[in-house]
Amino acid sequence: MQKYLLLLNLAVIVLTVNAVVEITDFFPFGVSHGDQYLESGDDTSSAKQNLLISFPFFGYNHSSLWVNVNGAISFNAPINRYTPTCAPVHHEYRMISPFWADVDTEFEDPTPGSSITYRESTDLADLQKAKNEIVHAFPDFSHIDLTWTYIVTWYNVTFFRDIPTRTIRNTFQAAITTDGRHSFAIFYYNKIQWTTGTASNGHHEKGTGGTSAQIGFDAGDSHNRTMLDVSCKDSVINISSMSNVEKPGVFVFRIDSAEIIKPYTLPPPVIVQEKLECPPNSIQLRINESVCYSFHPALSQFVIAERECNSFGASLVSLKNKYTSVYIPQLANLLFKHLEVEQFWINAHRLIDENTFEWTNGEDFVFTNWKNNRSEEKVINECVAVNLEKGFWKTEDCFARLPFVCEFYGEGKKVPQTALVLEEFPDLPNYIYETGVHQTFMKILDKGDRQ
Ligand SMILES: *[C@@H]1O[C@H](CO)[C@@H](O)[C@H](O)[C@H]1NC(C)=O
Ligand SMILES: *[C@@H]1O[C@H](CO)[C@@H](O)[C@H](O)[C@H]1NC(C)=O
Ligand SMILES: *[C@@H]1O[C@H](CO)[C@@H](O)[C@H](O)[C@H]1NC(C)=O
Ligand SMILES: *[C@@H]1O[C@H](CO)[C@@H](O)[C@H](O)[C@H]1NC(C)=O
Ligand SMILES: *[C@@H]1O[C@H](CO)[C@@H](O)[C@H](O)[C@H]1NC(C)=O
Ligand SMILES: *[C@@H]1O[C@H](CO)[C@@H](O)[C@H](O)[C@H]1NC(C)=O
Repeated sequence: MQKYLLLLNLAVIVLTVNAVVEITDFFPFGVSHGDQYLESGDDTSSAKQNLLISFPFFGYNHSSLWVNVNGAISFNAPINRYTPTCAPVHHEYRMISPFWADVDTEFEDPTPGSSITYRESTDLADLQKAKNEIVHAFPDFSHIDLTWTYIVTWYNVTFFRDIPTRTIRNTFQAAITTDGRHSFAIFYYNKIQWTTGTASNGHHEKGTGGTSAQIGFDAGDSHNRTMLDVSCKDSVINISSMSNVEKPGVFVFRIDSAEIIKPYTLPPPVIVQEKLECPPNSIQLRINESVCYSFHPALSQFVIAERECNSFGASLVSLKNKYTSVYIPQLANLLFKHLEVEQFWINAHRLIDENTFEWTNGEDFVFTNWKNNRSEEKVINECVAVNLEKGFWKTEDCFARLPFVCEFYGEGKKVPQTALVLEEFPDLPNYIYETGVHQTFMKILDKGDRQ
């Protein structure tokens, strides 16, 4: 059964135009960094380069490669074809093509200002840079121990027919890397100003139109390949503003097996819940705008407090993550400061099973913020109160009288009558720094946010 796709077009995320990889963010390149110059030429290639390691690609190990003028690294054989096939390659070569097109350097001696350069590297800085890209794209590989890279840079190169003074130029880089078992390709695009050589029906001055450059990977078996969907299209000119890792001009692929693997899809953004309009005397937090909170100063026993919350469709607040367990106590401290108490009630107790704390609304008791390890104690009649100054939780006699905070979902827009009217506290800061999750400033108490 043939499970390999004939042509797997990869979705390309289009980002801001003009965003590119800066040259300074390329792997260091040039003869001053140990590169060799590829000799000037038209449709030419390096000599066969024997590798220090065996490089896995498309399910095969390779002990040598060729660097080709026409924007590709090949295995098994060099490439002299100048117009990309835009179809599976029938030849004996396997190829990694950051920009397969008719690059031409025939009439220019290689210089730091325009050249194709390459090096095999086991340099730690190169390996670390490669690892950073791999881990960003494939978080599962955070422990990968890369041992080898090969870096090829096409710097400021023009198209067939080479005119040394022509200023329409492309600059891009391909790095391949492996730990001996898994291998990856990293493509960087800085400046892409042309897509097509004249012999591929490109415009003789602009280098566009005709059969445009092809980007991707081909097993050279007439069948297995993976190409970016901008390949062979005019839009490949915009490749330096596209990415498959959300960094304009950067593409990363895992390439060792028969199936070329694109980066894992990033987790979907947090689903924004419908924003509730909280009734007067209550607020909401940006972390979850489907919940409203009200602050009640009437010193009450635990059950009385819970019943007061229930009277308008709420319950005592449950602090189920670090964010709310910082945020709610800090607000409560501001609002209850004048009461000369140290704690307020939340929704937890261990009245039913003396060994187990629970939220009265039945939700899982996972997050905790105990000052001490309370689960070692054996006391009955325990309810949970939160320290106003520090936010610590502590078991407290349920008969104690404390202020409390309610949470509710705004249904029916019932107004929590006994809650503090927030406007009565003009010294409340409009902006409170979030210590927990988002590390951003949130404007929470101004009227605009509170409806
Ligand atoms: C490639 O080399 C690796 C590591 O030496 C080896 O485990 C693997 O079996 C080889 N693959 C093939 C197709 O020969
Ligand atoms: C690229 O090459 C052109 C033509 O030789 C030259 O005018 C230009 O200065 C070069 N650009 C860089 C950044 O070296
Ligand atoms: C495509 O690759 C798979 C896996 O390596 C291989 O089994 C299959 O024969 C290849 N297809 C062709 C036409 O060579
Ligand atoms: C390249 O991107 C620019 C800006 O989005 C767009 O106007 C232009 O049409 C694109 N070029 C091609 C050939 O797709
Ligand atoms: C917001 O809070 C409600 C009630 O606790 C909960 O059902 C919902 O999953 C929360 N939404 C998010 C995005 O956390
Ligand atoms: C708290 O005490 C319980 C029961 O002795 C124990 O299982 C748990 O590991 C302790 N937790 C911490 C954080 O010390």
